[in-house]
This record gives sequence, C-alpha cells and structure tokens, in this order.
Amino acid sequence: MAIQLSDIEPLSLQGLTDIAAADTTVKLLQVKQSLLGKDSEFTKLRATLKDLSEEERREVGSSLAKAQQKLESAFLTKIEQLELAEISSKIQTDFLDVTLPGTPTKAAKVHPHTQERLRLEEIFQEMGFTVWEPYMLDSDYNNFVALNIPDGHPARDMWDTLRINENLAFIVHTSSMQNRILSSQEPPIRAIVPGKTFRNEATDARHEHSFFQVEGIYVDKGIKLSDLLGTIKVFLNSYFGREMPIKVQPTYFPFVEPGLEVMMQCPVCEGAKPLDCGGCSGSGWMEVIPCGMIHPNVLKAAGIDSNVYSGFAWGFGLDRLIMIKYGIKDLRLFHSGRLDFLNQF
Ligand code: DAH
Repeated sequence: MAIQLSDIEPLSLQGLTDIAAADTTVKLLQVKQSLLGKDSEFTKLRATLKDLSEEERREVGSSLAKAQQKLESAFLTKIEQLELAEISSKIQTDFLDVTLPGTPTKAAKVHPHTQERLRLEEIFQEMGFTVWEPYMLDSDYNNFVALNIPDGHPARDMWDTLRINENLAFIVHTSSMQNRILSSQEPPIRAIVPGKTFRNEATDARHEHSFFQVEGIYVDKGIKLSDLLGTIKVFLNSYFGREMPIKVQPTYFPFVEPGLEVMMQCPVCEGAKPLDCGGCSGSGWMEVIPCGMIHPNVLKAAGIDSNVYSGFAWGFGLDRLIMIKYGIKDLRLFHSGRLDFLNQF
C-alpha cells in the first residue's frame, strides 16, 4: 500500500520517544539503525512514494524528509549528550594519576659473584688482557705436567681433586689453561682466566670444594718482576677503588721462579694491627695474590723460547677477594641462595 500523510506523524513521534529513551551510545545507535536504516519503516515508506500522484508525492515526500531531519537532529543532540556523559564517567573510574609513586617490583638481579667477576674482567680488559674460560674437566697434562709438575711430584698433594678417570679431572686451578693459551697464541700474550675450580676439601667458612680463581698470564720480550707488581697494584687499586698498599714475600709454586705472595694491607684495620682484627688477626696484612715469573719449563712446554721471552702469572681466589671487599664472613653464602644475603647487592 502506498504511503499516506497520516503514516508519518506517529512514526516520527515514536522515533523521538525511542531516541529520548536510549541511555547509552550503543543503544542509541541501534535505535538510529532501526528508525532510519535500510530495513526501517521510513525506508519502506519512501519506496512507495513512486506509487503516488505527482502532487501527493511532493507533499508527502517533503513531510517525510522533514520528519527524517527532525529525527537526525534529535539523534545528533542525544549522541553528543551520551558521549559526554560516558567520557566523564570513564574519567572518574579509569583515572590514572601519573604523579603517584611507582610500586616496587621484584626484578631479577645478577648474582653478586657475577657482578664482581664482570667488574674485574673490565679492569683487566682495559689493561689489554683477553678473557678466557677454563675447561671444567681437563687432562693430567694441563692440570699438572705442562706446569712443571710431573707425575709423582710431591706438589701434587696440594691439589687433590675429583677424578673422572686416570686422565681426566675437575680442574684444580685455572693454571690448567696456561699451556693451552701459551701454545696457541703468539707473544705478546695477555690473558686472564676466571673460572670455577675444584678440590677435595672439608668445607667451612673459608673453604669450599668448588670455588673461583682468576688466572693471569703475560708473556712478551723483556717482561720483568716489576711489570707483574705494577699490574697487580693497578688491579687492586681499581678493584677496591682506593690506594691499596702491598708487599711481597717469597713462596713456592712449581710453575713460577721466583714465586711470590702479594700481600695487601688489611683493609679492615688499615694496618693498625689490633690483635682482634677480624681481617688479619693482628698481622696488618692479607695474602691475596700468589704469583711469580713463569718457569722456563712452562714456556718450553708451550713452545716458547725462554731465552727470548719471559712472562709472569698469577692465580688468585676470587671468592676471597670479594669477601674482603664486602666484609663477607662466610664463603658458603655465595652458594646458599639466601635472599637476605643476595638482596644486599
Ligand atoms: N694455581 C695456584 C693454586 O691454585 C695459584 C697460582 C700461584 C697460580 C702462582 C699462578 C701462579 O699462576 O703464578 O694454588
């Protein structure tokens, strides 16, 4: 049936009521769709305009257009209101105060031991040393023979360790890398080897079966004892961040000649030597770095002519140095996984 003028008014009134009743933008958009969309009554009616006479079509058509405009403008006013209301309620509930202090999070951290090792590597790298990693298991040759400790040498008693078989043992010291490095590089050779070492040890606050050492080697023409002491002094001063007085005393290791123990002035009593000093028990000094001039037999085993080249080496306990730096009393804390300890770093 063709559209009548009287059809328009009720439709338009109903539309205005529906628009007024919509209380969210989503509902309002649905109302608009059903009022003016493709399947709406209005659209259907408009399609029948063609069935009217020309005069009627003009009259009804213009009334239809007016009703439609009225609905459109009611819709626009309403949607503006609803959007404003929705935004302001969102501001109330989703308010983010960017000036509030942050909530602390528990981020993972690098283990203090690793932090210290990296710092130490940096110091030596600045002096031109390269960083090597030791084999965890190594041969009798690298652990001993190449270091001037042949089979049956009494010094082997100092280095009892866990063996896998006759020829393979957990490394007793990072010196196990000396032959590998010296025989694979051309002088000048400057290398450090931080790594884990293993011994048959009864554990207590100062001893562990697994601990860390840092080996150092420097071989070139004309290397002297003073170069060794200068290098160690620069290292200790930068690692501890202040001037660390040192002195040396002789000691014996088969792979160096002469062998020395570098002693550092006790940083706890700063050399005041009270008998109850927790750092040095009253001696005023701490043994920190065993070292020496590389024995000609060690150079020879690596194919280096000791008449042309000389060098120095050291191998100190990293755990002990970190303990001294931070006043840590028990070596076992490093492996303990205790958060009260770890969180202090
Ligand atoms: N490897 C020795 C140890 O574990 C430490 C050491 C002493 C290493 C003197 C050296 C050195 O390179 O020159 O007891």
